[in-house]
Amino acid sequence: MTTGITLNLQRHHLTIAENMRTIISFDGEGRLIVAFRHGANYVRGLSGEVLRKRALAPGQKERQKLADAERCAVLAELLAEAARMIEQIETTAPPAARDWFERIRRWDVERLEAERERFRTVYKPISILPPDQYRALVLQATEGCSWNRCHFCTFYRDRPFRIHSPASFREHIQRVKEFVGAGLGLRMAIFLGDANALIIPQPRLRELLQVVHEEFTIGPDADFKGMYAFLDIFGAERKTLAEYRELAAAGVRRIYLGLESGDETVFRLLNKPGSPAEAIDAVRTIKAAGIAVGVILLVGAGGERFAAGHVQHSLAALAAMPLGPDDIVYLSPLIVSSDSPYLAQLQAYGSTPLTEPAITRQLAELKHGARTVTGPGAKVVIYHIEEFVY
Ligand SMILES: C[S@@+](CC[C@H](N)C(=O)[O-])C[C@H]1O[C@@H](n2cnc3c(N)ncnc32)[C@H](O)[C@@H]1O
Ligand code: SF4
Repeated sequence: MTTGITLNLQRHHLTIAENMRTIISFDGEGRLIVAFRHGANYVRGLSGEVLRKRALAPGQKERQKLADAERCAVLAELLAEAARMIEQIETTAPPAARDWFERIRRWDVERLEAERERFRTVYKPISILPPDQYRALVLQATEGCSWNRCHFCTFYRDRPFRIHSPASFREHIQRVKEFVGAGLGLRMAIFLGDANALIIPQPRLRELLQVVHEEFTIGPDADFKGMYAFLDIFGAERKTLAEYRELAAAGVRRIYLGLESGDETVFRLLNKPGSPAEAIDAVRTIKAAGIAVGVILLVGAGGERFAAGHVQHSLAALAAMPLGPDDIVYLSPLIVSSDSPYLAQLQAYGSTPLTEPAITRQLAELKHGARTVTGPGAKVVIYHIEEFVY
């Protein structure tokens, strides 16, 4: 009898599927990591959060972090489905799958949910990563944001800025390793948290990177291909070409900067540190050191009054950067949270928020424009901050 159930056993994850209508994957510890069922995609992060993505109507997508009761109900259903599928194929599955089945069966909803508390003893909340780094292993060399005053950004308001000492960083790394366990095999890169790890003064940063190298093997042929981090423009000003070269030699592969807007007025309205001109200089220095960049633009920033200038000057800023095949431009549609001072600031500047259709139009303009002005091969990618789960 054919069951329609298929098993895909990889070195670091196992996927079990039925007629491609239900698909569930597990990490090396046997923890559920992603699933597809009833037309919805689920991503369960190490933090225990579950994100559901599904199409509600053509062109309308829901991205939602599930609240406690719904999350537990979804996990219970997915685990029951997985158990049923495993039972049906167990006797015919290859011997290598047996161990995996055992590990998967050790997890019930209660144990998965207890991971949320465990996570909080290892990490401060991981508020955001660039989309190409969602599967990186985060090491919080710093906590929070040293600036924390951009009017639109509430990611790190809940914690003071802090730089780890080498000893406390090593302790953090060891707790991370223990927590992630065999799930480490899924992580291809190291992301140095939080908002701007590269603001760490070079002598301390050198020591912290040394700790990372003592704890992990990093290189093109190793499991971890390189290190990545955010940088705000204020911090970028402070490192020299020689210092960036040292970071490149230590395995730093790409640095992500929130330019948000190339328009000086919009930049000030947002209360970003530095200036667009300084961002361009920073990108030139970083690229000259052999490190790639990710440049983030905020779609809708500055509202109606400044929309044309925002697009024009942002594209001019990108054109002035030497962006090439390793570089990425991210377009992040602005989400205005009720507890941010952004709207009051917009009003003070005599502007109003863009409507949804206007944001969609601006996104298309920036996408097309960014593709035109960047060098050959640079990628232009949409960055939905509500899609992030670690
Ligand atoms: C950690 S920050 C970037 C790195 C660095 N701290 C900086 O400011 O350059 C992450 C990015 O998320 C985006 N972001 C933050 N708040 C946002 C919001 N409310 N809506 C949309 N994107 C947002 C911004 O583009 C921001 O640059
Ligand atoms: S956008 Fe970057 S610099 Fe500004 S508050 Fe957020 S994390 Fe900090």
